[in-house]
Amino acid sequence: MRKLAAGNWKMNGMSVDLAEIAKLIDAHPAPDCDMLICPPTTLLSRMAERAAGSALQIGGQDCHAAGNGAHTGDISPAMLKDAGASHVILGHSERRADHGETDASVQAKAAAAQAIGLVAIVCVGETEAQRDAGTTLAVIGSQLAGSLPATLATVPDALVVAYEPVWAIGTGRTPTLDEIAEVHSFIRDTLVKRYGAAAQEMRLLYGGSVKASNAAAIFALPHVNGALVGGASLKCADFAPIVTALAAS
Ligand code: PGA
Repeated sequence: MRKLAAGNWKMNGMSVDLAEIAKLIDAHPAPDCDMLICPPTTLLSRMAERAAGSALQIGGQDCHAAGNGAHTGDISPAMLKDAGASHVILGHSERRADHGETDASVQAKAAAAQAIGLVAIVCVGETEAQRDAGTTLAVIGSQLAGSLPATLATVPDALVVAYEPVWAIGTGRTPTLDEIAEVHSFIRDTLVKRYGAAAQEMRLLYGGSVKASNAAAIFALPHVNGALVGGASLKCADFAPIVTALAAS
């Protein structure tokens, strides 16, 4: 399978930061993995124009489940696609926490994104209290059951799961390699039970304080097929080495 290095700019990035995209495209004209940046919506179409014809793919950070209508402030999957996106992150823990997104709303968005031909990157992850209570796998299992679309709409490539422990996001802390491996193999087993053997080809990303210094060790783990990177995706100098590590893994 082709691995995926995905960057999530979150609510960061102004016009001037498009220069980072030009550098990234120069640094990786033909990487041996997929390379994706999900900018704020204000930059999406300009970034997509810059990335056209390059190896860099562009994605949204959220979308609405409906195709259009009276939903002030929201963006439909078709609008993202029209602006040049090929992917969309869904159910990020910051969306779940800040905007009350539920497994059911994430599932509806994922189905809508798939229907329009966007690759849905569905995020799951436990809080620190849940990990301390020993309920990590139960929490992940229930998020997977509730957040993923009922069927693999097209090819397994079109649905990506990102395991992002909430307590590892933006904190500089990560689970141990054994802990990451345990959750990733649990996710793989769960997906194969649900979707059948095709789920062996679905990409599973790890996210949460990935940086150049820890990327290679994480990418060496079984069932880690890429990363969802926040802070270290904002600058080419930080993200390009992560892409290099993934391509080499
Ligand atoms: P981080 O964020 O790399 O800054 O920890 C990861 C994410 O939220 O996707």
